[in-house]
Amino acid sequence: MKKNLLLCLFLSFFIFSKAQNNSVITDKVNFILSQMTLEEKVGQMMQITIETVLQDGSTNLDIKKINAAIVEYHIGSLLNVPSSTAQTPEFWTNFINKIQNIALTETRLKIPVIYGLDQIHGGTYTAGSTLFPQQIALAATWNPVHARKMGEITAYETRASNVPWNFSPVLDLGLDPRFSRQYEGFGEDPYIGVVFGKELIKGYEGEDNDVSSPFKVAACMKHFIGYSVPTSGKDRTPAYIPRNVLMEYHVPAFKAAIDAGVHTVMINSGIVNEMPVHANYDILTNLLRKELGFKGMIVTDWEDIDKLCTRDRLTSSSREAVKIGINAGIDMVMIPYKYKEFYNDLISLVKEGEVPLSRIDDAVRHILTLKMKLNLFDVPKTNIKDYPAFASKEFSKASYNATAEAITLLKNRGAILPLQKAVKILVAGPNASSRRALTGGWSVSWQGEKMENYPERCPTIVEIMRQTFGDKNIIYEPGVSYKADVIKYDSEYKDRFQQAIKAAKKVDYIVVCVGENSYTEKPGDLSDLYLNDLQTELVQELIKTGKKIIVVLNEGRPRIISRFSSKVDAIIQSYLPGVQGAQAIVDVLTGKVNPSGKLPYTYPAYPNSLVPYFHKYADEQKKTPGLYNYEGDYNPEYHFGYGLSYTTFEYSAPSINHVSLLLDSKEDIEITVNVRNTGIREGKEVVQLYSSDLYASVIPDVKRLRRFEKITLKSGETKTVTFKLNLNDLAFYNFDSQKVIEPGDFEWLIGSSSNDIKIKLPFKVTKK
Ligand code: BGC
Repeated sequence: MKKNLLLCLFLSFFIFSKAQNNSVITDKVNFILSQMTLEEKVGQMMQITIETVLQDGSTNLDIKKINAAIVEYHIGSLLNVPSSTAQTPEFWTNFINKIQNIALTETRLKIPVIYGLDQIHGGTYTAGSTLFPQQIALAATWNPVHARKMGEITAYETRASNVPWNFSPVLDLGLDPRFSRQYEGFGEDPYIGVVFGKELIKGYEGEDNDVSSPFKVAACMKHFIGYSVPTSGKDRTPAYIPRNVLMEYHVPAFKAAIDAGVHTVMINSGIVNEMPVHANYDILTNLLRKELGFKGMIVTDWEDIDKLCTRDRLTSSSREAVKIGINAGIDMVMIPYKYKEFYNDLISLVKEGEVPLSRIDDAVRHILTLKMKLNLFDVPKTNIKDYPAFASKEFSKASYNATAEAITLLKNRGAILPLQKAVKILVAGPNASSRRALTGGWSVSWQGEKMENYPERCPTIVEIMRQTFGDKNIIYEPGVSYKADVIKYDSEYKDRFQQAIKAAKKVDYIVVCVGENSYTEKPGDLSDLYLNDLQTELVQELIKTGKKIIVVLNEGRPRIISRFSSKVDAIIQSYLPGVQGAQAIVDVLTGKVNPSGKLPYTYPAYPNSLVPYFHKYADEQKKTPGLYNYEGDYNPEYHFGYGLSYTTFEYSAPSINHVSLLLDSKEDIEITVNVRNTGIREGKEVVQLYSSDLYASVIPDVKRLRRFEKITLKSGETKTVTFKLNLNDLAFYNFDSQKVIEPGDFEWLIGSSSNDIKIKLPFKVTKK
């Protein structure tokens, strides 16, 4: 009785305390932990899908089931189900309040539950929210301001939906264009991942990571680690990554996110070096916790503890799988359905000494700390009325700005763009009338297919073309269309194909919108990187009409276009530009927007040539003739960092404050360059600084991006760009996976793409 009174007093103290400092939080967490039974602790570690607690076939809670989950099994967290669709903030508020009420009134310790959502490019699951372009398009802006803005607005609208935790950002390196989730990340370059990842996290969590704010959410960096490079190119299949390679390319964005204070991490569902990451103590505990210093909460991906047994056959027993995963370092288990089995298994494992209680305490400490930092003990529920800016014009403008800066002009033969308004245009291709193709997966629903039901949220390209050029100037003949209501992304059919060819004769220009339909994860697996046959055929047939052709690409990954790219007049890459995509694409076509996006990946020309820009010298195309010159074939369709503008820029007057430094020098290296807009209209240029290590004990990359800056220049205007670096920017992981700087010769390369280097500055690191 006395003990209960003390507990009540202590818990009620939370209600009156405001933002809490770390040591206060630690004390409170330890106190709650000391009151918890083993069963309550194990319950906290479980995250289940709402499907298990809903009435059959409805979105209403089944009160019996949710009570059982929370009161009997003490579950700590909930998430959606793959078939979930966006709901209004009011829906979310009521729905989560009902769940929270049970946790707060019916349980002994009144620990709030935490709901997590994948709001990965704006409010995926919040109806009417502000949707942004996907991360790959954000990276194409080369302007990190947009990542920060997206984070801030998404955090606001997610909390407005009563949800405090977002499974974003994706920090997986987009090295493999075959991978179905390449668009969810920031592209192929580690440094871009570092810069954009940090900004997105700070947007979600705030500059000081004070997620007790009602306008911030906890971010979840994912999927640690090595998820995006399976050998097969297919989702959740084995990858082979040597430790030095892992550290050099894959870890930096996660390390920067940890340094930026990210609160949670989700683990790679796949297998690295023949060991599922969920079972890998060395990765989860040695690397993530000890070496990288991650102090937040580790959550599994979907059903991944069970997969150690059912998919990976690491063991034949699901109980053993639980033991392996928890002992490896997992805190919270996304165990969507079979949570009762997990609960019994983990309790018995602890009782029989196979999982130490200290490991359970450690996991629960991370979970309670997260909930406390999010202020869920004090304010477990939010109210949409406190979020007047939800879906505001200002938010929508921010999304448009990001989209407009992402669109990347890849080709503009004879400067046929921008188009005059009084021209006749045939609009063709399956993406011209698709909404889901613009927004991609994780838009309204997991595979994004339900976006078609929201015409008011997301106009199509042909709709905006008609508005802009006038109905009478636009003929729309798809030629090829996507099958409606099909989840699989590449189901297409010929739709009035011949009419499209015929219509071409009546127009001045053809705008053909091709690419991919929406997808993510397994349904997006691919067997052929070429753009689908029907779309390729359509473009080839349209070329034969002899009309001027502008190809608008709208795709989650660079599908190969070398079967027609040299024969069309212009190519615009729009990636997955989001709900404002159609407007931004048309604004680039008309010249209202001067394009300034740059490719955040290498656009391959052939499916057997998939190396990134920072490949090795052995991959370079050598000029020496002869059969035995062992040349590589690096010769992509478009280079990393490339993108055209309607104006031109000139680089001049480079300077550097040191041409050499001693190995142990801590001095700044300062490099400046002048950039002038030599065209007749205002434009934005991305000034890119690469380094090149000429010789090293691990074969060096030909170049690596070290800094970049996007600047706006009026016609005739010159600006000086200054880059600050130090010797750490030349460090790399050696064969023993130690980070080292080696003495020797280097070059700093400045240019407007990885392949358009305007200035080379030699540099030396000396021993003594
Ligand atoms: C995905 C994660 C996602 C999770 C929860 C998984 O299938 O791999 O990225 O956060 O589902 O929806």
